Formats: sequence, C-alpha cells, structure tokens
Amino acid sequence: MKIAVIGTGYVGLVTGTCLAETGNNVICVDIDAEKVAKMQQSIVPFYEPDLESLFKRNIANRTLTFTTNLAEAVKESLIIILALPTPPSEDGSADLSYVLNTAKAIGPMIDEYKIIVNKSTVPVGTADKVREAIASFARYEFDVVSNPEFLREGVAVNDFMKPSRVIVGTRSEKVKKVFTELYAPYMRQGERLIFMDERSAEITKYAANAFLATKISFMNEMAGLCEILGADIEQVRRGIGTDDRIGKQFLYAGIGYGGSCFPKDVQALARTATEIGGDFKIVDAVMKTNYAQREKFLDKVINYFSADLKGKKIAFWGLAFKPETDDLREAPSLYLINELLAEGVKIIAYDPVAMENTERLLGDRITYAKNQYEVLEDADALVIVTEWKNFRNPDFDLMIEKMKKKVIFDGRNLYNLERMQELGFYYNSIGRDIVQSK
Ligand code: UDX
Repeated sequence: MKIAVIGTGYVGLVTGTCLAETGNNVICVDIDAEKVAKMQQSIVPFYEPDLESLFKRNIANRTLTFTTNLAEAVKESLIIILALPTPPSEDGSADLSYVLNTAKAIGPMIDEYKIIVNKSTVPVGTADKVREAIASFARYEFDVVSNPEFLREGVAVNDFMKPSRVIVGTRSEKVKKVFTELYAPYMRQGERLIFMDERSAEITKYAANAFLATKISFMNEMAGLCEILGADIEQVRRGIGTDDRIGKQFLYAGIGYGGSCFPKDVQALARTATEIGGDFKIVDAVMKTNYAQREKFLDKVINYFSADLKGKKIAFWGLAFKPETDDLREAPSLYLINELLAEGVKIIAYDPVAMENTERLLGDRITYAKNQYEVLEDADALVIVTEWKNFRNPDFDLMIEKMKKKVIFDGRNLYNLERMQELGFYYNSIGRDIVQSK
C-alpha cells in the first residue's frame, strides 16, 4: 500500500519504518528540511533500539523515502497518517494547531479517495474536527480514522511489530477492509485488531495511559506508607502483582512517571473532564501524587545534608526519563538537577545515551562524565534516576574507591538492602527502610 506519514518524531518514524518493513511504500514528510536531508542519508534522528537496521534496510530498498513536500506525499498515497505533536497548551488541554493546520493544508491536495489517520494522541472529537478542516477544501471523498499508537519508547519497534492490540476508530466498511489488510502482517488472523467508533478510539488512548499512570501513582503513595510503617514496597509489589487481576507490570514505585506521554495525557484527560463541567478525581490525584513524588525524593537529599548542601558534589546516574531512550521530556532528572543547582550543589552526570540531549538543555551548568565510574570521583553522594541495566550490578568496590562519601539516593530501588548494609553505604531508596552507613 502507498502510505504517507506526516511528522517524523518518535511515533511517525517508528510507524513509517515498521510499515515499510512489511512491504508498503512509505513517504515520510517533515517541515524540518535539515532533518529530512539527514534521514535521506540514512541517519536516524534519535535513539531507539532496533530501529536503525530496519530504517537503513528500507531506505536502501526505496520502500522508505523522505520529503518536505506534503502535496507530493498526499498525491502518491492512499493512507495519510498524521503523527504530529499535540503539546499541552497553557491550560493543560492538547494543542491541536499542528494537526488541524495540516488537515487544512491536505484538503485541497486530495485528488482521489484518501484515508486520513490520526496517530497522535488527541482529545475526543478531534477526528470530527479534522474531517471538518479537510471537508471545507476537499472536492473528493475521504475518511478520517482514529488509530492511536501504544508504542513505548525503548521497545517501540517491538510494540509496533507485535502489538498487544490495534485500535481503529472508524465506521466506514471501506476503511475496515483496508486496515484489516494493513495490519495483517503484525498479527495472526487479525485477532488483536479492534474496531470501534472514532470517539471511543480517541478516549481509549487516554484511558490506557491514565490507568497505567494511576497504577504507578498508587504504588508511589503506597511506598510512602511503607516508609512510615516500616514495610517494604518491593515485597508488597511481589505480593499483589501475582494476582492476575492486578498484574505484575507498572507496579514499580520510583521517582514518578515522566516522558512525552503520561504527564501530557493525564493532564489533557483531566482538562477534558473539566471542560465538560465534571471532574475526574482519580486523575487529579494521580497528577498531584506524581509531582509530590519528585519533591519527596528531593527532600530526602536536602534533609540528609541539612544546612550543609551548598558546594557539595552530587553525581547522577541516569538522565533519560527511562532506560533505552535518550528522551528527556518531563524527565525527573531535570527537575532534581535544577532544584539542586539552586541550592548551590555541583552536579556531575552520566547517562549511557542521553548526554548530548542533556548538554543541549543544560550546557555548562553541570559537568558531564565519560562513564559511570568517572562520575563518582570525589562525590559526596550518588543519585540514581534511571534504571539503566549497567547500573543494576555495578562494581561496588570501585564505587567505594571513587566516592568521597558512601551515600546513595536511589529513585529506582536497584539494590538489595542487606547488600548495601554489608558494603556500609548510607542507602535511601523508595518505600523501604533507610540503610545507615557504617
Ligand atoms: C507510554 C505508554 O506505555 C505507551 O503505551 C504510550 O503510547 C506512550 O506512553 P512511554 O512514555 O514510552 O510509553 O513510557 P513507559 O514505559 O510507559 O513509562 C512511562 C513512565 O512511567 C516512565 O517515567 C517510567 O519510569 C514510569 N514507570 C513505569 C514507573 O515509574 N513505574 C512502573 O512500574 C512503570
């Protein structure tokens, strides 16, 4: 099939590449000419595991091409996928200007039947707005479909190739036929393809993300209780996760969720509820809890050093909002770093892939280390923000040798408390007893 993908961010590029991989002809469009030129030379613009080989292969096969020319891409394609940003506006609602302006531009370019697909996470009713925006200019028949993405950064290629489900919001029989064919290579007999109306599809995406965010905030509040009551959140997680009704995933207490989706989507859902005159009490509480979680973690560091924080050297392990990505959007690390800098702390940081992006944001306000041990040189404390694999089983002897003080604040509960005790660390994690240094 001939497909245009408008917008080459994480979602657009992963979608385009994975659709090309199963034999479709995909043209990706972006307004950023420099980015397009780089992609034409097979340079992937961001880090995402498994993407590069698929990307390069399909460029070489000419099944994946790039252009800044929207009209050309629309003309060539039956399916036009909008994968454009929907950032939060000042009031928390999703800003639809990129989506709607593109829809308006597409209208007059349509010269035969087309299917326009909303991939971006958009509030309920957006499919109707896109339809209106196109209809005011279009002279030919077209359909607008809501087909939200459920791609996790770090495993996005796998999520696309082996989806847990594909939601398609449409009432058009013609679209249903095309989408059944389009997604057939990714599942057996279409068993995970779920058709519904556009509005239900739009809200399904918010419901999924808000529900997952709720699980995390629930566990983070539970962790707070455990700290006060002398219980261990990791034991509680194991104790409840084995119940299939609860499930093992997304029960990890930590420093709070970040990233490009959860904070934005939860906020937009709350905003939608307010707009229709109601409120969504659970979702409001989820947001508050998430913000408080970062503050509580910061307080652990501040309280430990009490009045003596100024001039201390604090090392960071991890900057990205989660492992296997270089994405810093809504990363708790940025909040912590900014707050600690304001207290006069010297920060030195290391992340396996997010260093360049951090340097772009923070410049010379912090120092950057080449590896996970160099960063510890002379440090008064280590703060662990991202659970990268190479932080899970480090050389503790080397750490002790490098660090000035054996102090760890762990926002991801990476280590066993007994082990920390034996090694003589002060170890303050989430929802567990504090190990005092020897
Ligand atoms: C998410 C959704 O999972 C995906 O389906 C959607 O389409 C886009 O948003 P992503 O933002 O890539 O994907 O990250 P995800 O792996 O879901 O993690 C989100 C945040 O929750 C991270 O900050 C992570 O550290 C945090 N998290 C996750 C926890 O704190 N505890 C957990 O148990 C799981």
